Amino acid sequence: MKNDIGEILFSEAEIKNSVSALAQKLTVDYKHKNLTIIGVLNGSLVFLSDLIRHVPFPVKIDTIKANTYVGASTAPNAETEIIHDINIGVKDEHVLVVDDILDTGKTLSGIIRMLTKYSPLSIKVCVLLNKMARREREIVPDYCCFEIEDKFVVGYGLDFDNRYRNLPYIAVLKDGIMIR
Ligand code: IMP
Ligand code: MG
Repeated sequence: MKNDIGEILFSEAEIKNSVSALAQKLTVDYKHKNLTIIGVLNGSLVFLSDLIRHVPFPVKIDTIKANTYVGASTAPNAETEIIHDINIGVKDEHVLVVDDILDTGKTLSGIIRMLTKYSPLSIKVCVLLNKMARREREIVPDYCCFEIEDKFVVGYGLDFDNRYRNLPYIAVLKDGIMIR
């Protein structure tokens, strides 16, 4: 696997520090509130599991999974389909949606639109990475570990063709790997 890796953008230590700092912000903002953290599968798996272990107060955890259709013809409110919905009620909860990356913004804006129907007290977005360059929906992360340029990255939950999620750092693949 390591032979496929080009440049490492964020090391294990940098990620650890950033996740811990982010959890401290969450603690300040949510300590006295009912918080439900909703992880977006599969990309948030690694980030979610590290982040929640830095949260020092009781939180509810659930997951959601969506398919986002690419292509200009799909209307914004039909482009995201929830294929695994949350199973716990969030009516009296503040919701924090956690994902690996905010790219075009289609997936997270679709998920937020769906979650709004459950009338939570608030909904905020927390991502490991923010890739502004390709944004197509008006959405900004409320919490974010790192800003990245328009590069395709893998590791720490992020995949190429469902591989490389288990790398402990965030990296770019070597030229040629992505066209295999
Ligand atoms: P969006 O709907 O375009 O914001 O896409 C979000 C999803 O696209 C993420 O949850 C990732 O699964 C995937 N994605 C976007 N950029 C990257 C990347 O650089 N590496 C791996 N997956 C990515
Ligand atoms: Mg993905």
